[in-house]
Amino acid sequence: MGWLGNIAAAGRIRLAHYGAALSAGTALAGPFLGGLTGGAAGKARLAAALATPEGQRQAFALQRALLPTALKPGQDIAAYANTGTAIVTRHADVIEVLENEADFAVVYEPRMRRLTDGENFFLGMQDGAAYTRDVTNMRAAVRRGDLAGMVVPLAARRAAEIVAAAPGRLDVPLELARRIPLHLLDRYFGTPGPSEAVMAEWTTVLFWYLFADLDGDPKIEAQAMTAAAGLRAWMDGAIAARKAAGSGGDDILGRCLALQAAGQPGMDDLGIRNNLIGLVIGFVPTIAKATTQALAQLLQRPAALATAQAAVRAGDDALLAACVFEAMRFDPGNPMIYRRAVRDTTVARGTLRALHIPEGTMVLAANLSAMFDPLAWAAPEEFRTDRPWAQYILWGWGMHTCFGEHINRAVIPQILKPLLARPGLRQVAPIEKGGTPFPIGYPVAWNAG
Ligand code: HEM
Repeated sequence: MGWLGNIAAAGRIRLAHYGAALSAGTALAGPFLGGLTGGAAGKARLAAALATPEGQRQAFALQRALLPTALKPGQDIAAYANTGTAIVTRHADVIEVLENEADFAVVYEPRMRRLTDGENFFLGMQDGAAYTRDVTNMRAAVRRGDLAGMVVPLAARRAAEIVAAAPGRLDVPLELARRIPLHLLDRYFGTPGPSEAVMAEWTTVLFWYLFADLDGDPKIEAQAMTAAAGLRAWMDGAIAARKAAGSGGDDILGRCLALQAAGQPGMDDLGIRNNLIGLVIGFVPTIAKATTQALAQLLQRPAALATAQAAVRAGDDALLAACVFEAMRFDPGNPMIYRRAVRDTTVARGTLRALHIPEGTMVLAANLSAMFDPLAWAAPEEFRTDRPWAQYILWGWGMHTCFGEHINRAVIPQILKPLLARPGLRQVAPIEKGGTPFPIGYPVAWNAG
């Protein structure tokens, strides 16, 4: 009986797989035809359709069914040396690439070194002694136990104050979502920077340069070099000032200095500076973007929004978090994670979609696509709050899984909580990115009183 049931289930799942591709193909047929026949305007409309999270999900649904793994020889990605670009779109293949760090290495090292003016940062390292040393040091300073006692109360209080002071409307990324991580950099890290505005600008351009500037735009590079010099000088000054003051303080910087005093390898002033630079770059634009995009997904789905709002009213933080992370699945901060093959290798070995990947190929692991793969996810098109947290690929996978994943998990719902508590919460205009990879505007409003 078991195998008969399995055959039926496998048939249903495959039907869903091809059904998703068919409906995506139907939805994209118009824009594709327009792109082929409509001249520059048609191409612009196609590009705009594919730039939306919905368009990306549709394109991936088609690709998962028709060409789940693909390789294009020749260097298209300018930012990092490579011999071609491959893409994998199925859940199993995305996991395979991200778990196999011996074959698929992170590429960020040269840009990391330019930002620190010397050393690498652990996200740019392959497995080895330096990686273990730096992650261990930073885990000793940024502790999971801080969440309940320090991080969540700080984030919750600041978010509540900001929303309470707003006149029935606010711009989510600029006035709320980025101000909470900036507040945490001040109160939890002990590294506020010269001002919130400057720290926001520095971390945003540095993140852009490291992770989003695949075309290698010289303008972004120039801005990043200026920002990096400013951030290095500010961090050097903050470390020196804290040491001169003589007292450590129980924040991240203070704990780093305590590790230094205890003779911990890798924790000299430069080591502390470079690790903190890496962490603050990961802290601000990421949380701001993910929070804004999660809210936009909720506001587009009345039933999901009602569930999130009911969770807030009932004080059910677990359900609120489930709503927020399910919303992020529909528009994750990082829709793709990239690696470079360090030797000739094969993904999806032994399957019809097996792909030989030559050494030097950039490999795009499409985590947005993976999270909509019906072969691995139950009813992926449905907004559900009962998915296991461990299944989400919102912050990478494998060795380089986000260092801040527990911070994200705790903080993002807290940022949205006071907004979701407001009656009549609604979007005033769609997310505006202004040609950047980040939301720079997302006005929302609510009913007064
Ligand atoms: C919603 C917010 C965030 C998102 C979407 C996000 C996303 C990611 C992703 C996708 C990766 C894996 C990159 C790769 O494998 O190439 C990653 C790694 C990393 N993230 Fe985050 N991140 C977020 C917040 C944070 C925060 C708050 C911090 C700092 C506390 C942080 C620090 C890091 C670091 C240091 C790594 C490298 C980990 C390693 O190499 O072991 N991130 N993040």
